[in-house]
Amino acid sequence: MTATDRAFEDIAIDAAMAGGEVLRRRFSERDGLTVEVKSRHDYVTAVDREAEAVVVDVLRRRAPDHAILAEEGSLGAARSAHRWIVDPLDGTTNFIHGVPAFAVSIGLEDERGLVAGVVHDPCRNETFHAVRGGGARLNGLAVACSGLDNLDGALVATGFPFREMSNLPAYLQAFERFVRSTSGLRRAGSAALDLAYTACGRYDGFFEVGLFPWDMAGGALIVAEAGGLVTDVGGGPDFLTRGSVVAAGRGLHAAMLEITRDTL
Ligand code: IPD
Ligand code: CA
Ligand code: CA
Repeated sequence: MTATDRAFEDIAIDAAMAGGEVLRRRFSERDGLTVEVKSRHDYVTAVDREAEAVVVDVLRRRAPDHAILAEEGSLGAARSAHRWIVDPLDGTTNFIHGVPAFAVSIGLEDERGLVAGVVHDPCRNETFHAVRGGGARLNGLAVACSGLDNLDGALVATGFPFREMSNLPAYLQAFERFVRSTSGLRRAGSAALDLAYTACGRYDGFFEVGLFPWDMAGGALIVAEAGGLVTDVGGGPDFLTRGSVVAAGRGLHAAMLEITRDTL
């Protein structure tokens, strides 16, 4: 871990807390919130955009040379070895319905991969954060993935397909195998929190298809730094670009991959 990377982690934490403050405040004043449909079952609100503006403002001020990929379209420097990957509100459907399970997710990548990651839950004041080579933390205290190495007894998180239905039949096959072999499946509605909870052992593992880089970048580094493995559903390293993910402690990851490789 370099001092520069540590400084980037601090920037990510500050940006996520600033965005989280917008989400926390707006969550209690949700009445009358205008909801726009991006695509079928995919929504965006003024709160997503307001939180993104606040997050990106911190990133632009503190890291003006870095590029930015943000879900709602904000940009940073045109060309840079560093790129921030931002989801200002992961769990928009929960937010709209008043379900307090959503987060700000921020990852930073360079030419070697993910450098820093933050997932901030403003409802519980939980900030999960990691820097490459520096371990994973929850509000500053070290966390680790669960040590479970078989599915029997495992609590596994997932996300159901809701936008693109072409992958539903394959997903249902995976779903059945996970239902039959684990002690429970959870679908809480925020991939970023699913990864963060996997990093601290609340969930033993997480899998989902049909994701975007901003859903995963922050949380994926936190899982990896918590001693876990993060791959796509075929076991390859390109989960950010392929949009599918299997994340778990090292023991369980192989057992999860056996199912996802066969089905997804
Ligand atoms: C969504 C959440 C959800 C996952 C979806 C994502 P959004 O992000 O992470 O858990 O199942 O695939 O799109 O749209 O609320 O930022
Ligand atoms: Ca998201
Ligand atoms: Ca979002």
